[in-house]
Amino acid sequence: MSKNFRVLASVALAASLAATSACSSTRDESSSSTGGSTSNLIGIAMPTRSLERWNNDGAHLDGLLKKAGYTTSLQYADNKVDQQITQLENMINQNPKVLVVASIDGTALGPVLDKAAKANVKVIAYDRLINGSPNVDYYATFDNYLVGKLQGQFIEEKLGLKDGKGPFNLEPFAGSSDDNNAKFFFNGAWDVLKPYVESGKLVIPSGKKIAGEEDWKTVSITGWKSETAQAEMDNRINSFYTGGKKVNVVLSPNDSLALGIAQSLESKGYKPGADYPIITGQDADLANVKNIIADKQAMTVWKDTRTLGDQVAKMVDAIVKGGTVETNDTKTYNNGVKVVPAYLLPPVVVVKDEIKAKLVDSGFYTADKLGL
Ligand code: BGC
Repeated sequence: MSKNFRVLASVALAASLAATSACSSTRDESSSSTGGSTSNLIGIAMPTRSLERWNNDGAHLDGLLKKAGYTTSLQYADNKVDQQITQLENMINQNPKVLVVASIDGTALGPVLDKAAKANVKVIAYDRLINGSPNVDYYATFDNYLVGKLQGQFIEEKLGLKDGKGPFNLEPFAGSSDDNNAKFFFNGAWDVLKPYVESGKLVIPSGKKIAGEEDWKTVSITGWKSETAQAEMDNRINSFYTGGKKVNVVLSPNDSLALGIAQSLESKGYKPGADYPIITGQDADLANVKNIIADKQAMTVWKDTRTLGDQVAKMVDAIVKGGTVETNDTKTYNNGVKVVPAYLLPPVVVVKDEIKAKLVDSGFYTADKLGL
């Protein structure tokens, strides 16, 4: 979508949402609920401010809903499950119409969502599915399996695995095991890469064996932390890459891990343009796009979080007004109690020479910000 078109689309979306919604407060605070009337309140629970994407996600959705005349309560929970539960309880006490929840632990919200259901509050799971609860009405996300598949296919193509090239030394990583997305990302990538591990074209010197359903958890990084990924990569290099053995490729599920992995590799003397491995990523975080420009990361899977916010704002509006809520997937996301109707958006691979066309021309970043 061109920048102009996007801007117009956003304005049109806000205008169409605003046209029929009753406007309540317009106090401009984003970290607490705004205004006296709660009749039009939408609660937005985000996991953490420590990752760039969630700041963008929260601000964009909050802005859209406010422009459309809704009152909002936008809360960040510092990646602490109990804090997120308390925030949701406080929101429910204010009688909101809808809760939009990007969960920290997708299995921990059952009891608080029971309270939401009793108070007749609808729930949209934002980006991450909430498991084990019947009280999740909708789910909006990017196609998480496809994110991983794109990472796997990128590695396959870059290394020439289809042409029989190899063997290459691979180090796999996965996301936080309490995040339902992490399994989808890993499975998408592993479905592409596993045959090459089995045929010996991809070798895992650290000996991480990922054969069965839940084995991906052996390479998962709790809380998606850069520092933990860095320490894990340090350990693997120290223990298994002796005698001149080199890491050729790292499957990293997202940018926060990729950042830590890159730091580890640099500290161990790997040099871009010489022996630096392929590293994958996801989110197009600013630091990582800069790393791609500097040849310290090979790709990122970009999820234009503005489109997710747009979609969720439309869902909220349809719920409040009793309209039809648009979904495009009613099969994939079984949360253990029910299949949650979902809207899946398409993720997009970005490599170095596409940064301008995809990230700058769409208005996601200014050239200035990227130092281009
Ligand atoms: C999101 C990713 C993000 C990760 C860490 C996942 O649930 O889908 O975009 O990188 O959480 O915050």
